[in-house]
Amino acid sequence: MSAISGVRLRLVFDSRGRETLEATIETDRGFRGIATAPSGESTGTHEVPAFPKGGVAEALSLGLTAVRPALMGRDVADQVGFDGKLHEVDGTANFSRIGGNTATALSVAVALAHAAEGGRTLAASLGAPAHPTSWPGVVGNCLNGGRHAIGGPDMQEFIAFAPNATPLDEVRAAIAVHRAVGEALHRAYPTLALGRGDEGGWVAPIGNVEALEILSSACATVRDSLKLSVFPGLDLAASEFFSDGQYRYKDRTVDSDGQVSFVAELVDRYGLKYVEDPFDQEAFGPFAQLTAAVGTKCLIVGDDLYTTRRARLERGVAERSSNAVLIKVNQVGTLTDTLATVALARTNDMATVTSHRSGDLPEGWLAHLAVGFGSVGIKCGLLGGERVAKLNELLRLGGATEAEN
Ligand code: PGA
Ligand code: ZN
Repeated sequence: MSAISGVRLRLVFDSRGRETLEATIETDRGFRGIATAPSGESTGTHEVPAFPKGGVAEALSLGLTAVRPALMGRDVADQVGFDGKLHEVDGTANFSRIGGNTATALSVAVALAHAAEGGRTLAASLGAPAHPTSWPGVVGNCLNGGRHAIGGPDMQEFIAFAPNATPLDEVRAAIAVHRAVGEALHRAYPTLALGRGDEGGWVAPIGNVEALEILSSACATVRDSLKLSVFPGLDLAASEFFSDGQYRYKDRTVDSDGQVSFVAELVDRYGLKYVEDPFDQEAFGPFAQLTAAVGTKCLIVGDDLYTTRRARLERGVAERSSNAVLIKVNQVGTLTDTLATVALARTNDMATVTSHRSGDLPEGWLAHLAVGFGSVGIKCGLLGGERVAKLNELLRLGGATEAEN
């Protein structure tokens, strides 16, 4: 056994310039793991809170007085015991005392330290084969809206989904779509100063349907020119524009049945292969209606619906609400809780997509999780240092970009 000999928490900043935490775990054999915790903006109601009421300052002081003493000396290989201890020290049902980001950073850091001791990658220590035969598809945000880009479309993310290829081909294809979307926007709005949103996708004052037209023709162009698989997708983050039983777009208001038909029609018209959170976060039934209608040709992904919680996924499995679940460690706070949800998805043939947050940091452990979990997708954006860090880590795991000598 190798014991934990150092536990440190540090204040750092995320890609939105907001404060978050970095954890370092050291072992008595001289190995260490370092991980930061990202933060969301369109957070689900059932997520653990990122920080205690007193914010990062309180998280740091609790880290020193309560969390650190409970973790020192523990076996670095005992992830389940470590994560259990975090719950015990927290003492609440949802990490509201110590904060989910303290738990997330520490939980991932200890996993990294353990992997380093064994001379393995984190992906391998999570169970990835030495030579994977399939890779998570890249789920890359090309155009931002919703809460990530005020003034843009109501839907939050217009996505390039590049599945079933090598990491290099997937990254290449998805980034090529991002570029083609930018070129199309420049052609359509030659005098407009185009910006980029929180996840590095373009921001333009256009509607949902226009954005989808641009995205789907950019995907078609890239498929033709590069001969690579890449398809349009959406994260509607629909809870953000749902109130009093209605989905309130800038140009239309529809009830739940109307939303089912509207999204099913978009799947057919644009050949969408990825649709996330098309309904409110409590709408298990409408999710099931859409999955029954288009689930054989499109991933229907629950993010705010499940918030990576096993108990909520159990309900989704029973009601056949979706065929895929988004996985974000800091929605539940530990790797052990995350793995429980991933295992439930696997046993029920539900796909997993492992995801970043809109406020993220330039490190690559997410790629290891996506590969280790056997996810069908890694959702990590495309441009910006904190997004590229994850894609480049996927390339390192893929190995194909190494020079021969
Ligand atoms: P968030 O958004 O990180 O702001 O929650 C990402 C998503 O909804 O998938
Ligand atoms: Zn989402």
